[in-house]
Amino acid sequence: MTPAPRARVAAHELVDVALTVNGSAVTVRVPLRMHLADALREHLGLTGTHLGCEHGVCGMCTVLVDGEAARACLLLAVQCEGAEVVTVEGLGSPAEQHPLQRAFAAHHGLQCGFCTPGMLMSSYDLLSNGPSGTAVAPGELPVEMSGVLCRCTGYRGILAAVADVAAAYPDGLPGPGNCAARTLLGRSGGRSAAPAPDAGGSSPGEPSRSAASAVSAVSAVEPRLPGGAPSATVEVRGALSEPVDAVWRVLDDFDQLARCLPGATLVEVLEDGRYLGRAVVALGPVKLTFDGVARVLERDPGEHRLRVVAQGADAGGSATQADIRLRAAPGADGGTELRADVSLYLSGRIAQFGRALAGDVSRRLFEQFTSAVDQAARTGTAPTVGAGPSPVRILLGVLVDRVRGLLSRWRR
Ligand code: FES
Ligand code: FES
Repeated sequence: MTPAPRARVAAHELVDVALTVNGSAVTVRVPLRMHLADALREHLGLTGTHLGCEHGVCGMCTVLVDGEAARACLLLAVQCEGAEVVTVEGLGSPAEQHPLQRAFAAHHGLQCGFCTPGMLMSSYDLLSNGPSGTAVAPGELPVEMSGVLCRCTGYRGILAAVADVAAAYPDGLPGPGNCAARTLLGRSGGRSAAPAPDAGGSSPGEPSRSAASAVSAVSAVEPRLPGGAPSATVEVRGALSEPVDAVWRVLDDFDQLARCLPGATLVEVLEDGRYLGRAVVALGPVKLTFDGVARVLERDPGEHRLRVVAQGADAGGSATQADIRLRAAPGADGGTELRADVSLYLSGRIAQFGRALAGDVSRRLFEQFTSAVDQAARTGTAPTVGAGPSPVRILLGVLVDRVRGLLSRWRR
């Protein structure tokens, strides 16, 4: 950490804090009194850092700051200017877990799992920086690990896991395995200030004021793709009745294109070629409203190809980034084959839907998109702005497809 600058800042002002989190250089704009744990969770979407007591007792919020364990609820974010922070997300990835994470799973070192991030980061610190390193005696572990409390009292599995890893690495514990430059998105989609309250009163067909104000807050964000494997990849094809040139005219007009996307509203076209928008995704009872930004990265009229990168976040902690490649090609009977290859990066609540369901829902949305593009190509007018997908219909459609697939497999 570099010493805090001696500037006078009023209590209500926001302050920019630059730090490195899990290998990514980030700047968060935070209130003076925000602690590091809230900055990580709310501004960077790193909700693996848990909060229990928020006054330094339970250890749930333990992270590494400049290589050493620290209680993120006792550090102000502004104290972390210039710091290197590693959270549990940086320790290992789902595909390549850190040895400590594997050992916790093998020994069932968790019950509800709420203390697990703190336990992992604290045991990492003990085995890396403790006076004995990985030579720590198993009998010392209950005292050495007592800085993190497990409300489920699952201590036996936890201590067995730590003892196992200590014995397996006599020459030193491997470092965090998931620290690389990537885009970190907060609950607010990269913005730091909360959106203005909805004043309401917009006309039909116009974006609501809350959409405009919330989305304008992400106007500083450049859409980027994170490193690592996407959460889901989707390849879909659709047959349209209209000829390829008419379909391309729709794809090449971002306003029309946005109108054809189920649940999407184009809020503002920025001068530098970015588009601010809002998308409502409804999955059964779960309705997510994403405010975000998109940029057309590639546009090839000769080949009728378009590549769009988009990212957004909803107020409930879900974030998504997407790399979308669209291609229109002449199809059967003078029509068009529309092809989309999409890589989706999901975090927060939406990631809980899993790859298969995310893929199924994306296919459903694409079906609605292709039919809207066909209509726009035929009539010159895209369907009604913001005509979102029926949440029930999407989920029911997905379930019906699943059941049909199962039945046909059983029959074979
Ligand atoms: S939340 Fe930080 S110590 Fe309890
Ligand atoms: S496993 Fe529940 S708090 Fe530790």
